[in-house]
Amino acid sequence: MRTAAGEQTPGMIRGGLVDRFGRRHNNLRISVTDRCNLRCIYCMPEEALFLPREELLTFEEITRFVQTVQPLGINKIRLTGGEPLLRKDLHKLVHMLVQVPGIEDLSLTTNGLLLAQQAPRLYEAGLRRLNVSLDTLDPQHFRQLARREGLEQVLAGIEVARRLGFSPIKINMVALRGYAEKDVVPLARFCRHNGLELRIIEYMPIGADQWERDKVVTADECLQWIGEQVCPLQPVASDPTAPAQEYAYSDGQGRVGVIASISRPFCHSCNRLRLTAEGKLRYCLFALEESDVKPLLRRQPFDSQAVQELVRQTVWAKWDGHQIHSAQFVKPQRTMHAIGG
Ligand code: 5AD
Ligand code: SF4
Repeated sequence: MRTAAGEQTPGMIRGGLVDRFGRRHNNLRISVTDRCNLRCIYCMPEEALFLPREELLTFEEITRFVQTVQPLGINKIRLTGGEPLLRKDLHKLVHMLVQVPGIEDLSLTTNGLLLAQQAPRLYEAGLRRLNVSLDTLDPQHFRQLARREGLEQVLAGIEVARRLGFSPIKINMVALRGYAEKDVVPLARFCRHNGLELRIIEYMPIGADQWERDKVVTADECLQWIGEQVCPLQPVASDPTAPAQEYAYSDGQGRVGVIASISRPFCHSCNRLRLTAEGKLRYCLFALEESDVKPLLRRQPFDSQAVQELVRQTVWAKWDGHQIHSAQFVKPQRTMHAIGG
């Protein structure tokens, strides 16, 4: 297979994970469970079937995978779910991953329900960066969006994490029409006041329900409301490979990030791969095909080159980007909770 020659860092295998469009992949999102203790309407069906536990990759298998792909240039990892804090002893995986040489950035996306209990041991294990999913501060909206109770617990979790010194803590809000118009300004104020960064995410067709373009509140709409009602915002130069575009409040009191996957797709700079809880490797959130890494991770003796080859092939097969705006768009079978956000 031909790969483009790229920069080399010490210990890195020549070429790295470059795809046919020249995108270099350094970012791996690992889902540790497909289970969740919420049922967010934009993410998953109310009645979901979950994987049997023996199907999940073990912490040793996940760590082995990370050790194997790091020399290919993977240096950023995010743990996701479902809800990752439902995976028993997650702090042990954190501890294993922070020790892998060359992993420069480890973060976790959680819904925050179990954060108050688990934040201390996660911090102790070496985790510092957190994204907490929270779409609203309104208890009724929370109940409607998440189809469960839990707002108070999430807020308590954020508070514990703040006090422990997690930084940055970002608040992920999916902007849905009918909710975001009322929720985005209070959330922006709450974040600004508490030293948190609001991340506004445009609603994508990856949940169980019928996606409609009309339900998407664009990042620009949200930015306008915040700019008018909280404080003016100015764009800041951000990492061109990061999905979020950053805006700073003009008085210097914090930032807002937007992930405008629908109104300003950023597939051309995508550097992400995804490993599902049962060991399937995906080159896109919306991919219709995936590679099965688990048999290779369970093979004795372990053959790291075979794993690296499968990862390279998966990256090479990557398409140019999601086709949400095209008539050919096909929604993947998996909903978000079974991929990892
Ligand atoms: N569109 C956009 N973001 C979504 N998430 C889940 N489903 C969707 C969707 N349909 C986000 C969650 C969480 C992350 C895991 O993915 O809000 O922050
Ligand atoms: Fe659970 Fe997150 Fe999906 Fe909500 S968005 S149902 S919290 S996995």
